[in-house]
Amino acid sequence: MLEVIQLIKRFGGLIAVNNLSMHVEKNKILGVIGPNGSGKTTLLNCINGLYKPEKGRILLNGKEIQGLLPHEIAKIGIGRTFQVPKIFKRMTVMENLLAPVLSSELSDKELKEIARKFLSQVNLLDHENELGEELSGGQQKLLELVRIMMFNPDLLLLDEPFAGVHPTLKAMFYERIMELKESGKTFILVSHDINSIYTLCDQIIVLDRGEKIAYGKPEDIRKNERVIEAYLGR
Ligand SMILES: Nc1ncnc2c1ncn2[C@@H]1O[C@H](COP(=O)(O)OP(=O)(O)O)[C@@H](O)[C@H]1O
Ligand SMILES: [Mg+2]
Repeated sequence: MLEVIQLIKRFGGLIAVNNLSMHVEKNKILGVIGPNGSGKTTLLNCINGLYKPEKGRILLNGKEIQGLLPHEIAKIGIGRTFQVPKIFKRMTVMENLLAPVLSSELSDKELKEIARKFLSQVNLLDHENELGEELSGGQQKLLELVRIMMFNPDLLLLDEPFAGVHPTLKAMFYERIMELKESGKTFILVSHDINSIYTLCDQIIVLDRGEKIAYGKPEDIRKNERVIEAYLGR
């Protein structure tokens, strides 16, 4: 579904993503792991148009998408959440969900109905009228997840969804991700949390200093010497 070919992203002299090729198949969850600073977030930023890569191609269903702007990327079906959730803190929970679909052809009533369905799935229905900033960190991450669902993207890029999230909310995250996968969605899941990655993902790529050092199924990655060394060797 998504293919990245020989992607390079530099910041001055630093090569954050170094000649990276990877792909994710439709209806699969691809995990991206790697030590801090290995280029995971930068990779997502290149895919969703926040950063312009120096080199390389990014194809969605065979069509080149590199160079498109973030809102254009969203429109063609790629949704993105952030390591630090980018919700609107001074808007209510409901307004957060309605903001991205203001130009929708559906009526306000219909949109609110859809929003409430999503909010109930993440136990936030009772918080509909609270401000974004009143939610806990984990709830803000869940809100961000359901906010991108308002677009109904085919591919979801999740950056550290479980970081700092209470175990109960984390379990809810797991459930939503698996449900969305069952409904046909595709994921790129970036996480520090290796156990979550092993549990949820079909395939995993491992980055180290911007390079891909391993790719495979969870059971293969778990045993991979280079991966163990990248995590424990420093
Ligand atoms: N906007 C930026 N400007 C300069 N350097 C950056 C920027 N974003 C990321 N980097 C650098 O690129 C490298 C990869 O960062 P990042 O993709 O955030 O890593 P990860 O998400 O794996 O922790 C790091 O060395 C980081 O300091
Ligand atoms: Mg990161």
